[in-house]
Amino acid sequence: MKTKILVTGGTGYIGSHTVVELQNAGYEVVIIDNLSNSNANVIDGIEAITGIRPAFVEGDCTDINTLRKLFEENPGIKGIINFAASKAVGESVQKPLLYYRNNLNTLINLLDLMPEFGVKGIVFSSSCTVYGEPDKNPIDETAPIKPATSPYGNTKQISEEIIEDYIKSGAPIKSILLRYFNPIGAHPSAMIGELPLGVPQNLVPYLTQAAAGIRAELTVFGNDYNTPDGSCIRDYIDVVDLAKAHVIAMKRMLDGQDTDAVEIFNLGTGRGLSVLELIDSFERATGVKVPHKIGARRAGDIEKIWADPKKANEVLGWTAQVPIDETMKNAWAWQCKVTAK
Ligand code: UD1
Repeated sequence: MKTKILVTGGTGYIGSHTVVELQNAGYEVVIIDNLSNSNANVIDGIEAITGIRPAFVEGDCTDINTLRKLFEENPGIKGIINFAASKAVGESVQKPLLYYRNNLNTLINLLDLMPEFGVKGIVFSSSCTVYGEPDKNPIDETAPIKPATSPYGNTKQISEEIIEDYIKSGAPIKSILLRYFNPIGAHPSAMIGELPLGVPQNLVPYLTQAAAGIRAELTVFGNDYNTPDGSCIRDYIDVVDLAKAHVIAMKRMLDGQDTDAVEIFNLGTGRGLSVLELIDSFERATGVKVPHKIGARRAGDIEKIWADPKKANEVLGWTAQVPIDETMKNAWAWQCKVTAK
């Protein structure tokens, strides 16, 4: 019998890619998503890639009764991957309660129901934002947590603490906290990818829309940082590589006998790229020019951060594989497909 996994936020960007990898690895998946930032036809894309249609519940995880019903109707769920969360930094400053309600209530409801329904483990989507502006790079998991600079970032810090406190209290569950660096790209089939609603806030969707002529030009937020070319540096990680790490984490949590009840891993490549280097890589990989100009710094941006992924490499046996040019080609293929619709 296949092991059954609940993926909250499973029609979203990282969620959908993870469902594909879970199904490819032989897991049975149940998705719950309220479609607040995604579309139900993502399920068609997942089916087209894997040949399997995951079970789908349209619902909101902030409502514990919806979740209870889901667990009753889908008995035997062994693990949860929790992607259901709001993630726009700027919006979180405008609407803090929305962020605290969505991100924290969802997590608390899931944790609350896990023992009752015999769910053994939860993988939590955390973020490198918990490190703030690092004192040194690359940054490993032992680096200090810095005060959050946005309600969004704060929800990630608080969520990590909630999970740790709950497990310390004796709850019979395990958890793996995955601190993502900057996920980008799309599935190589171009059947699923990132679908930002409205004007994209993140770099790569804005870049591909500018290349496609949907946006006049990309603004590079600052070229006067203390970096080799003056633009900010991030650790951009291919979304399929990231998705695969979730499958390994789930297997470790459910099958591992002697693993700690809470484990934390950075998920990044270990390579820092500047905004200008990323634009170069896109142009090199696709032969398409990105209209862009240099603009002012964006408030709250970190100057430079990239991962030390050694722990994930050694303990999980996971390493980011996809070369950046490949990731850029996939992001462009997805943009072309979305534009053609
Ligand atoms: C932010 C959050 C991260 C969150 C992620 C998802 C922080 C510090 N980081 O990452 O926790 O998980 O969003 O939404 O809160 N850029 C431009 N022009 C643009 C857009 C971006 O130059 O039009 C630059 C930014 O200045 C930055 C880089 O591109 O240097 C990446 O930006 P973005 O994709 O928004 O991600 P982060 O801010 O790194």
